[in-house]
Amino acid sequence: MELGIDLGTANTVVSEARRGIVLDEPSVMLLHRRGSRRERVLAVGRDAAELLGRAPADYVAVRPLHDGVVVDLEVARLYLRRVLRAAGRRGWTGPVRAVIGAPVGSTTLERRALVEAAEEAGIRPVTALDESIAGAVGCGIDPLERRVHMVVDVGGGTAEVSAFCFGGVLAHRSSKLAGDEMTLAVHRLLREGHQLHVGELGAEDLKIRAAVADDEPIVVQGRDAATGRPRLVTIRAAEVAEAVRPITDEIIRTLAGCLDELPPQAVTDVLGEGVLVFGGGSLVRGFSTDLERGLGLPVKLAEEPLTCVAEGAARALRNRPLLAAYGRS
Ligand SMILES: Nc1ncnc2c1ncn2[C@@H]1O[C@H](COP(=O)(O)OP(=O)(O)OP(=O)(O)O)[C@@H](O)[C@H]1O
Ligand SMILES: [Mg+2]
Repeated sequence: MELGIDLGTANTVVSEARRGIVLDEPSVMLLHRRGSRRERVLAVGRDAAELLGRAPADYVAVRPLHDGVVVDLEVARLYLRRVLRAAGRRGWTGPVRAVIGAPVGSTTLERRALVEAAEEAGIRPVTALDESIAGAVGCGIDPLERRVHMVVDVGGGTAEVSAFCFGGVLAHRSSKLAGDEMTLAVHRLLREGHQLHVGELGAEDLKIRAAVADDEPIVVQGRDAATGRPRLVTIRAAEVAEAVRPITDEIIRTLAGCLDELPPQAVTDVLGEGVLVFGGGSLVRGFSTDLERGLGLPVKLAEEPLTCVAEGAARALRNRPLLAAYGRS
């Protein structure tokens, strides 16, 4: 089995070279804590996410990654093993090789931890590939071309910007303001602008609904901040766009910083082609128009912003020159 794996802070997506996307679930796992030991896995992915905030006290929800990197090898190994089992559920028992995405800004040690966790989960060989590169490949870009491409990946925990050409990364920047901060901004909008209390999931739900809503108001259910009673509030999608604008502005500054590092000829390439944008956070209401206005250059939204990294990683498996240039095992 040949897999492209995007192990994200928020979501895990796995693409199989011949079948396409075989797994797309929240990156979360529910463990049973027995004393100081906590090995028993009760649920992963969507099943685990449904129990968030509902599970008994001796169950703990853990995420395999923090800010895009592995911090607990044991947790990452347990998680990847379950992901593998779910991805190959049609009775697959043979060897598994994979390309797994890693943040461009991650250190050698952080990549080593990711590769090690994957190997211990039974995947071999494993090659770590820059997520920006994998995402670009998933969108049909050839990163070996003699032309500079620039991409922005707005995930849950981080927004990464990178520019690359002919097998090498020219410039890279990242920001900790991304999708999760957008959810917090929407949470604040409800609490401070409408005196409504909702959980984090409620705020994320509004953020996502606003992305596709027409101009009709969106109804949100929560508790009145003063009385604690259930209350309905109507919100305009434009309010959501306004609330997340400070995060978009920070991403624009990150991008501008990255552009400043490029030589003039490279900037000309980017001006001509535009910036490719992917990751779930890029779907938020108003993001691409604000980005285009703020930067003064064309912005292209990926067709599959949530799965292009996994798709690209799977395609990279069969592209030796690409892995030789950008991969690290
Ligand atoms: N339609 C949407 N509108 C706005 N935000 C969205 C939408 N769909 C997903 N998101 C947000 O995108 C984020 C997750 O994106 P993604 O799956 O690309 O992150 P990730 O790859 O897991 O994280 P990271 O790259 O930071 O490790 C979450 O904050 C989620 O709320
Ligand atoms: Mg990601």
